Amino acid sequence: MAGYKVASDKGINKPWTGRFTETTDAFVEAFTASVGFDKRLYRHDIMGSLAHARMLAKVGVLTAEECQVIVGGLQAIEQDIEHGTFEWQVSLEDVHMNIEARLTERIGIAGKKLHTGRSRNDQVATDIRLYLRDEIDAITAELTRLQVALLDLAEREAGTIMPGFTHLQVAQPVTFGHHMMAWFEMLMRDTARFADCRKRVNIMPLGAAALAGTSYPIDRAYTAHLLGFDAPAENSLDAVSDRDFAIEFSAAASLLMMHLSRCSEELILWSSTQFGFIDLPDRFCTGSSIMPQKKNPDVPELVRGKTGRVTGNLMALLMLMKAQPLAYNKDNQEDKEPLFDTIDTVRGSLKVYADMMPALQVRRDNMAHAARSGFSTATDLADYLVRHGVAFRDAHEVVGKAVRYGVDTGKDLAQMTLDELRQFSSVIEQGVFDVLTLEGSVAARNHLGGTAPAQVCAAIQRARQRMK
Ligand code: ARG
Repeated sequence: MAGYKVASDKGINKPWTGRFTETTDAFVEAFTASVGFDKRLYRHDIMGSLAHARMLAKVGVLTAEECQVIVGGLQAIEQDIEHGTFEWQVSLEDVHMNIEARLTERIGIAGKKLHTGRSRNDQVATDIRLYLRDEIDAITAELTRLQVALLDLAEREAGTIMPGFTHLQVAQPVTFGHHMMAWFEMLMRDTARFADCRKRVNIMPLGAAALAGTSYPIDRAYTAHLLGFDAPAENSLDAVSDRDFAIEFSAAASLLMMHLSRCSEELILWSSTQFGFIDLPDRFCTGSSIMPQKKNPDVPELVRGKTGRVTGNLMALLMLMKAQPLAYNKDNQEDKEPLFDTIDTVRGSLKVYADMMPALQVRRDNMAHAARSGFSTATDLADYLVRHGVAFRDAHEVVGKAVRYGVDTGKDLAQMTLDELRQFSSVIEQGVFDVLTLEGSVAARNHLGGTAPAQVCAAIQRARQRMK
């Protein structure tokens, strides 16, 4: 059957066959194996084993010599794996038993002592946490790179005027820099979510053993210290069974992808001929095999599309956990593929975005033209009337009539003469034209969080401080 690799390595001695009277069915062996995907945990598995062996030596369960041989053996195995000379065996089920079996092959009896006071249940939970901790750090670094790219772009385009939209209809003029800073804020919260999630990831399951703890005089604080964990897990049953930290990570990843998907949607719209607001660099686009004129925004489209699988992975993990009794169940082996896929997708999406955003070309004329053509300063005219004593609801009505007139005559508000405008309200004077310009409109929104270029520049300065 496709997808399941039946072992060709018959006769490998599994470490748990003592109580069995027949060998594992060949397909069951392939069906239950995880080594095909969990071998990517090898570095963290070895890291965990090194710390466990050192702790066992510290408390006198292993001799110093045994520990030394184990450490040397594990380091050699890590080298073999890195050089691609390690032979992974499906019959040895997973990354843990593959490495342990090889260790015993290499160093003999001492290799068989490594698993003292430990179970694969606390081992795998530890491996995933160590692995995820590193991945969170890598994701955070990419997020920072993208945020810096957005800040630089916002700085470059702090005074560039574009139409702001609600309902995808032209609403009010905004600055492009302000729009980039909106994206920045979303990513700021994503970064904070990963940092918060990391605190709960960085707790050590080792010592929980299978589920109840172990009868050896282990020193969990010491192992935790060696591995850079903040603390050992408080409860052994909880430590081996829950995967809420992976779910939490996936939720943070889903929110991040949702944000990148929204950004993508805008980049796709903006780069269309109809909008013409931006040009994506050619090296981030592809052509059509039939339509010679095409330049397709594949990168944002793919990021938007990949958002689905990350959210799907979150659902998979939630459903994986929802009916599991304490403590460990083999169900948990299913945590890895969704988690790995989410990590790969998020890292890829962030990398391509961080590479692409600095190369974005902004078509300022087209943006300004679009901002001018949708009566985007109508609210400014209403505010002007209010400042001249008209109640806001009445002002709204007056401006609505002026817009109606503009639609009929094909004129924007700023293109009407003073006499034309005065048909709608006698309080209108020459000064109205200052507020009807795009520049006047954005400059007027001059408060914290507003779109005025001066406020955008101030927000960028604060953002650079907040990122430190
Ligand atoms: N491959 C297993 C997993 O990913 C390791 C733990 C197996 N434990 C067990 N008792 N079968 O969860």
